[in-house]
Parts: sequence; structure tokens; C-alpha cells
Amino acid sequence: MKAPSVVRAVLDFDVAEYVSTTRAVGRHHLDPELRNRMAELYLDLRDALHEPDAVFDRQELRVLRFAELALQSEWKLADPSGGADCAGLLNTVSGPRGKRYQPYANVRLLNQVLGTRRGSSDASIEYRCRQTLRFLVRSWLEYEQRSSNGTETTWGWQRPLTPDAMSERLDRLARLRQDTADWPSLPRPHPVPPARWHHYVGDAGRSDTLEYLVNLPQTQHHDENAFLRVIHLTEVTTSGILARTLGAKTWLEAGRLREAAMCLERAAALASLQLDVMRVLRRTMSVENFLGFRKETGDASAVQMTSSQALHVHLLGVHPLKVEALERVPENAFLLFHLNDRFRPLRSLLHELPRDCDDSAQVLAAARELDETLYAWRRLHLGLAHRYLPKDSMGSGGTSGAPYLAGFYQDRLFHAGELTPHPVPVIAPALEGRPVWARAIFSPMN
Ligand code: HEM
Repeated sequence: MKAPSVVRAVLDFDVAEYVSTTRAVGRHHLDPELRNRMAELYLDLRDALHEPDAVFDRQELRVLRFAELALQSEWKLADPSGGADCAGLLNTVSGPRGKRYQPYANVRLLNQVLGTRRGSSDASIEYRCRQTLRFLVRSWLEYEQRSSNGTETTWGWQRPLTPDAMSERLDRLARLRQDTADWPSLPRPHPVPPARWHHYVGDAGRSDTLEYLVNLPQTQHHDENAFLRVIHLTEVTTSGILARTLGAKTWLEAGRLREAAMCLERAAALASLQLDVMRVLRRTMSVENFLGFRKETGDASAVQMTSSQALHVHLLGVHPLKVEALERVPENAFLLFHLNDRFRPLRSLLHELPRDCDDSAQVLAAARELDETLYAWRRLHLGLAHRYLPKDSMGSGGTSGAPYLAGFYQDRLFHAGELTPHPVPVIAPALEGRPVWARAIFSPMN
């Protein structure tokens, strides 16, 4: 297609129909014709945007770049190999599509809302994270309330919760709502999904993006909706924690200890919310409900979650037992480039703090709090792997599952109150002989 007709086709695309169809049947059962049309539109748009002599006005370009993110998700999900065979796909015209977690959770759209793609400051990312968390908690609570009083009619009606589980979920969500009540807010979304992309773009479109485009479960199972909401809340808290951890590292390198302590305190507060969010799932989702939708999520696994992997690399360095898992995921392989002598995770910087000084003590106290909370999350998460997965089964991300998680969940900044030494150093794998996607330093898919 020529660029002007591509632009027309993208701008005329009926977003409302896409959202309501997806919600009505579950994304896994989306009409293949619609998904393929979106996948083709993505490829045409990608080419049109890269044409050297293409001219777009500023607003049009913003809309097209936004639409590209949503269309790309469907292109990735249309991948017949399920993202499993990236090297093989290099031979096709469309190139490697990456793993399924990113499109499943619509992470690129979420990052657009958070502003993490624009080199924003840690303070601004945290501000947007708090806005988004408040919005998502309210949206989830209202969904559960509608489900509980029988007014939710459009989605997530299969395998409902038992009355006890529902009551506990509502209580826990109401507490989260209370905890976030004073945080900055976003406006209410439109009552129905807007039909054109331009409504979703920019600051004004953030609520509609979160309400309609980010949360698209694969099935109609009630608890998949909850599962996906926990994934989004975890993505958002992790982005905030990561931004503040990077901020703390920069202040420590500059010798500004009080500012570093403040960053770590704020990171710890977000980590605490993240733990409470995971508890909602652990306390209220039955094993049967989880297994009811697991198959449809395919090999989407949060082991592919770039923000979480990056956070742990910046806190602790690359753990030897994670090298293979990082290497296998094209979105995350670039993190292996932190395996060099010059990279200093927070762990190293804490070891270099001046001794017997109040400001150092404040940094260490905040780091301890963050470490403790993240460790509690990892313990809880390992418990999920034991409880919900059939014994001896592999993880959906292709690792050994619970044994993989057990291998490093105890790697922490502190042990019995004392800073821990570095884990066994590892040498970067020889990337030379590996497929091109595994060598992508800047991970173009992020
Ligand atoms: C019943 C629910 C869950 C189970 C049974 C489960 C299980 C697993 C397993 C087995 C892995 C290892 C990787 C693989 O898939 O092969 C993993 C990794 C991971 N999961 Fe979950 N998970 C659950 C829910 C969640 C949720 C809601 C989140 C939130 C985002 C999450 C975040 C992660 C992260 C970040 C990793 C990567 C760990 C690392 O490599 O450091 N998980 N999970």
C-alpha cells in the first residue's frame, strides 16, 4: 500500500469494534481475519513511517506512532510460532516478533502511559506510576464490584469466584484503594471505548488507553482478568522502583547520600504496594481457576518481563543462574551486556559507602527496607509456582519452573542485617556465534 492509503486505513480503523469484539470473546478467540488485518496494517504502517521521503504533520505522526504500538501487539500474537522460534523468523519478510508476554500484557502501551520511553526523570516516572496505579486499582475494584452484584455483563463471566473469595478480594482491593486515595489521579475514561486512535493519544488519552487497550485478557475467565490486572500493577510498580533505583545509583555515584536515601525510600513504598497486590491474587484465586485459563496464555511468561529483569540486574548484578533465561529472550538479551567490570549494581555502591556516617546509615536503612520487601515478594511468588503449577512441570517461559525461581530468590542485598557479597561472577556468554536477535544490544523490541 502507498503511504497515504496506509495512513487513511489506520486512521479509519474502528478501535471501538476491536475492543468490544475482543472483550466479548476473549483475545485468544479474536476473529483471525481481524487479527491478520491488524497485523498487515502494522507492517504497512511500519514501512510507511520509515519511508525516507514520507512527510507527516506532528499530530498525525503522534497518532500513527501510537496506533503502531497497538497494531504491533496483534502482529506479534498472530505469530504462528508463538514467538518460540525467533531465529527461524529472521528468514521471513516480517522479521523476529519477540516473545508473547509483551503483547499479551500490552506492555509497550503501558510504558507509553508511564512515559518510560521518553527518557523522563525518575520523579516524573514515579508520579505517572502513582497516577496509573490509582487508576488501575479503582478500575479493578469496580470490575469486581460489578461482577459481585451481577451488573458486569460484557466480560470475565466464566468460572466466577466463590462468595468467600469474592468477599476477601473486595476487602483487599478496598484497602488498596484506600492506600492510593491521596495519590495523583487521572480523569475517568469515556463510558464506552472511543472509535478513533486520536482519542487515546497523549495525556488526555491515558485513561482510555488503560481502560480499553491495555487490559485485554485471552479468555472470558473471571480470574484471568484479575491475573492480568496483577501483571499490570506489577509492571507499573516495577517501573517506579526501577526508576528510583537508577536515581539512587546516580546520586550515590555523585556522593549525594541523602538524595539517594530518598529515592530508595520511595522505591520501597512502591515495593510494599506491589507485595499487597500479589497477596490479593494468592489469597483469592483458586488453582482450578488458574488452570482454567493457563493454556490460552500460551508461552507468555513474566520471565520475559524486561522491567523486572532490569531491576534485579541494577540491584544485584546478573545472577549466574539467570544467564540462560536472559539470553533466550530477545527483549532481555541486551541485559547481558551488564556483565562487565565497569557495571556497578546498587550492591557494589552500597559496599563503598563511607562508614560511621548518619547519611550512610539512612541509605542502608532504606535499601534494607526495599530489599526486605522485594524478597518477601519473591518468596510469595515462588509459593505461587509451587501451589498453582502441576508438580515437576516446566514454567511457561521454558525454564524449569519452581526450581529455576528457587535458584536465586535468596540472592539479596542483605543477609541477617549485613550487606551480602557479590554472587559468583559470571563471564558474558560468547554472543558471536549466536543468532542475531540474541546479540541485539539495545533490544529494539522494547
Ligand atoms: C499463578 C500465578 C503464577 C505462577 C504459577 C507463576 C510461575 C512462574 C514461573 C514458573 C516462572 C519461571 C519462568 C517460566 O515461566 O518459565 C515465573 C517467572 C516470573 N514471574 Fe510468575 N507466576 C505467576 C504469577 C505471576 C504474576 C502475576 C507476576 C506479575 C508480573 C509474575 C511475575 C514473574 C516474574 C517477574 C518472573 C521472572 C522471575 C525472574 O526470572 O527473576 N508471576 N513465574
